[in-house]
Amino acid sequence: MEIARSVSEFRALRARLNGPVGLVPTMGALHEGHRSLMRRARAECRSVVASIFVNPTQFGPSEDYTQYPRSEEADLAACQEEGVALVLMPPVEEVYPEGASTTVSVGDLATVLEGASRPGHFDGVATVVAKLFHIAQPDRAYFGQKDAQQLMVIRRMVRDLLMPVEVVGCPIVRDEGGLALSSRNAYLTDEERSQALAISRGLRNAEQAWRDGLRDAERLRAPVHDEVARQPLARIDYVSLADAETLAECEGRVQRDALLSVAVHFGRARLIDNTILKVQSS
Ligand code: PAJ
Repeated sequence: MEIARSVSEFRALRARLNGPVGLVPTMGALHEGHRSLMRRARAECRSVVASIFVNPTQFGPSEDYTQYPRSEEADLAACQEEGVALVLMPPVEEVYPEGASTTVSVGDLATVLEGASRPGHFDGVATVVAKLFHIAQPDRAYFGQKDAQQLMVIRRMVRDLLMPVEVVGCPIVRDEGGLALSSRNAYLTDEERSQALAISRGLRNAEQAWRDGLRDAERLRAPVHDEVARQPLARIDYVSLADAETLAECEGRVQRDALLSVAVHFGRARLIDNTILKVQSS
């Protein structure tokens, strides 16, 4: 495995890789969720490249950019174990050259849910992912369904800007209690962690209600909301049931595939999770 700490170094090494090339963009603090993307990429591509870059422009001014967990040594070991051929770890000054003013903005899809709670977040994500695509020139790029709206934003960017990359969405990896793995879970105390299991419990209850035929939007949000609201340390940001294509909030009877998503603060951690309720089981 090779490690490139500058874009020019990366480009020289990338040119030697056999295709198809799969890219797994990450911010490091790698866990099984990230590793599942690498394994999927490994299974589908001749060469896998990963990026580890904590992207400052996707963090709000009062968010955790400076405290975001960093674990370079363990991350590189994980990449190596998963068969990554080349890792990109660029310095911030190179990704954002002095005076950089060009950004990618995908429009309405990026202004609801996470975009409403974290203004500018998806401009930061889309901009850095566009840069990573330009640097890595992947045939395929792998993203987790854990960040469902992010996946939608990237798909939209790729479509709208005619980028020659196939975007592959991968399932959410959870721990044995059901908690979706996240680098930010490191912020949780034991008490917060056990209360946070209410999130996936609520989602599972809603999935069961959906399978049993419940279609009323408000009554599908309720099991998630109520389960989480019962936890004394939880502060709910949103519980949303939205059209899985447009992210327009559902009202009344749900007729199309819908994204049930939730954002909750537990102490220092802001956790997100989701499930897709499909009209036709595929
Ligand atoms: P990061 O939070 O490090 O996540 C990197 C990738 O791992 C994302 O595609 C995310 O959806 C996926 N992922 C995280 N937890 C997961 C889980 N439990 N199961 C499955 N996949 C999971 O997302 C980002 O970084 C950044 O926004 C990035 C795309 C790298 C741009 O800076």
